[in-house]
Amino acid sequence: MEEIKVGLLGFGTIGAGVVKLLKQNSALLTEKTGTRISLKTIVDLDITTDRGVDTEGIILTRNADDVLTDPEISVIIELIGGYEPARSFALKAIAHGKHLVTANKALLAVHGEEIYAAAKENGVEVLFEAAVGGGIPVLSAIKGNMAGNRFSTVLGIVNGTCNYILTRMTQEGADFAEVLKSAQEMGYAEADPTFDIEGVDTAHKLCLLLSLCFGTRIDLKDVYSEGITSITSEDVDFAETFGYRIKLLAIGKMDGGKIEARVHPTMIPIDYPLADVHGVFNAVRLTGDFVGPVMFYGRGAGMEATASAVVGDIVDLSRSMCAGITRRCAPLGYLDGNVTTLPIKPMGEIVSKYYIRFQALDRPGVLARIAGALGARGISIASMLQSARSAADEVPIVIMTHEAREDDMRKALGEIDTFEVIRARSTFIRIEDNLE
Ligand code: HSE
Repeated sequence: MEEIKVGLLGFGTIGAGVVKLLKQNSALLTEKTGTRISLKTIVDLDITTDRGVDTEGIILTRNADDVLTDPEISVIIELIGGYEPARSFALKAIAHGKHLVTANKALLAVHGEEIYAAAKENGVEVLFEAAVGGGIPVLSAIKGNMAGNRFSTVLGIVNGTCNYILTRMTQEGADFAEVLKSAQEMGYAEADPTFDIEGVDTAHKLCLLLSLCFGTRIDLKDVYSEGITSITSEDVDFAETFGYRIKLLAIGKMDGGKIEARVHPTMIPIDYPLADVHGVFNAVRLTGDFVGPVMFYGRGAGMEATASAVVGDIVDLSRSMCAGITRRCAPLGYLDGNVTTLPIKPMGEIVSKYYIRFQALDRPGVLARIAGALGARGISIASMLQSARSAADEVPIVIMTHEAREDDMRKALGEIDTFEVIRARSTFIRIEDNLE
């Protein structure tokens, strides 16, 4: 029986999940592939801490070259995360003719082109199903069974940490910092959790989704991204009152040859399936011209779910290797020469409905002034709500608008915030309630 020897870089949460899966389901994997997938070596700076998984028969080393240059190892799993040394290790592995399986969205969002070019030159594959949506097999579906479609939108809840935090804020009125801590303890968060809560991890994933859906290179700097740190329980409650839930969405749209690429907290109607994606679960909703809307749902982070996607890529590779036909599909699902650079629509040009919250003195004429400034920019009010007056004579005023240009919205709010009756910087959340 053919044996495929694998080397693992990074023995963290996901690495431990991969070790566990490969041991526990070893016979099943052989039944399905006709090969023996054996994990030969693990590299990590810490090779002594007990990860609670059986490492018998596996070499543990601190020296990356023990896997990068081992001629017996044909597949490298990179689970270090981050840009460096992951990039250098990936390039070295590829230069030594090894296929690369990675869960590293940051690496591919920023250095993808370099890595794909090196892989092409060396005739090896780069597979990264675990990089988006944890255990959800959405990337394979975009490249494979949905390849016949021209996509128009891709919308995703793709950060388990943020979704877990927002869910607990919504369901329990829980405190942001306390919930973040428990997400970290459960192994959902990135090594640097600001990547999660500031929307950077979601932006990395959106870059990959856009590249696969539209065959385009995306510069991370062109993706507008806003995290969840300024969402308050007041906003969560107001959203509920108006029939919405707040989710951190990755939004990609094709609009007349321009791409919308944005990550921000978004209000979605409570009766949308996306609004019912709770906790660490992720969902990606794609619209293709033939298939229509399709939604993928599953665990978006965590040891076992992410290991499932990593091992899926190894299985895919082992099948191709046995058949002697690797590089059947280019990394982005478009032939390398056909990946273009589509223009990104500037954020000021996007059109959306908005939720705006003002903190104002409760005086005659305040509402008229706010409405006047919005009206002067062509922004029409759909509904509004003013809560009870607080001791300080201040009230939150919430306005839901009809569709407006972002530029006009920002200019109107800039003007309103200069009014002396406005007591705090006004905040707004975009609404997505018109899904095709
Ligand atoms: N930190 C990520 C998340 C892990 O919370 O979704 C999966 O990429």
